[in-house]
Amino acid sequence: MKATQHPESPGEFLRSVSSELGALFPGLETGTVRMLSVRDNRHSWTLELSLRVGNATTELVIKRPKSTNIADVRATVAGVIRTSNSSALRGGEGGFVRFPEIVGVILENTALVMRRIDGTRLDEAFGIGSKIDEKRCIESLRNLGKWLRSFHEASTLPGGARRAFPFQIRPYQDSDCTAVPIERCLERMGINVRAIELFLRTLERVSEAVPKESKRLTQTFGDFRVWNVIISAEGDYLSDLPVVLCWDNPWRDISAMITSIEYMAARPRNLAFRKRIQPERLTQHFLSSYFDESLPSAESVDLLNVPAMLASIEDLGHSKRIQDLAAKLWIERRVRSVLTRVGRRSAQ
Ligand SMILES: Nc1ncnc2c1ncn2[C@@H]1O[C@H](COP(=O)(O)OP(=O)(O)O)[C@@H](O)[C@H]1O
Ligand SMILES: [Mg+2]
Repeated sequence: MKATQHPESPGEFLRSVSSELGALFPGLETGTVRMLSVRDNRHSWTLELSLRVGNATTELVIKRPKSTNIADVRATVAGVIRTSNSSALRGGEGGFVRFPEIVGVILENTALVMRRIDGTRLDEAFGIGSKIDEKRCIESLRNLGKWLRSFHEASTLPGGARRAFPFQIRPYQDSDCTAVPIERCLERMGINVRAIELFLRTLERVSEAVPKESKRLTQTFGDFRVWNVIISAEGDYLSDLPVVLCWDNPWRDISAMITSIEYMAARPRNLAFRKRIQPERLTQHFLSSYFDESLPSAESVDLLNVPAMLASIEDLGHSKRIQDLAAKLWIERRVRSVLTRVGRRSAQ
């Protein structure tokens, strides 16, 4: 295995990347490649670069998926390229959301090269000291709702979704679409059998009653969450393309966005700024742009958040990072509190 395939330091990663960019940018002077940032994300490393080709300056993001297995890294890169060519993603002619342009692949198909979007992540746009006003943030959530609806519409199969969300849980970042039954996830959390049964019955009742358009069988985006959205002067971008668009129920994406808004608002540094981040209001904007006429009930939104939270827990998996463990505990507490509410209501 070549050293370049498993970069051991940001410096080494940068050197191997710079030496290969010439293949994508003929006329590139390697001496002009500058590193803007390097990030160690949960699922990838990203390297932001600026370089000069002729008279123009270009900014790029190089993304290298994390996995100990090089075949998995290549499969992830290939999957993202496949997804980027999906016509349903373009969501008809709406143009509410854009995707970063993929320039090519390097390092023997283990890293993606894309154009860097000059903008602010949506979760940071809501944060302390952000220069983006609330009106623009809300416009972005409305764009996401409209885009999601047209994406689901463009990729619907006849018939309803069976063995799908909310009863089957698929992690957001997986490369296959294998699902875990919801009761298994709840058992793993130590929830007792009777509470699980009661919750499932209630969930069945509310998911029967949601608007028809949210009950179809459709392709889903998966990791449809606020921190994967970038607001820029050119428009709103979804920066994190999934490896595969799993067939599922629209709520897989709707609830992923809603729960991510809640996580964002509950971050310790944002709590002091409660006035600015009102998760319920943001969720309402998102929902009312997804649903044309009738809105789902507050109870169904609340209950359908549980499988989305379980999917987050699946995603965090066995990560030993302290922030991931903390996130997992916080989410589990939220899940328990919804189940307690359901139990109390049925006892009345
Ligand atoms: N094309 C891009 N332009 C600007 N920033 C980007 C681009 N692609 C990713 N990023 C930023 O890099 C970070 C990690 O990217 P992401 O694609 O979400 O990785 P992961 O799959 O590990 O979640 C995010 O903060 C994201 O905003
Ligand atoms: Mg991401």
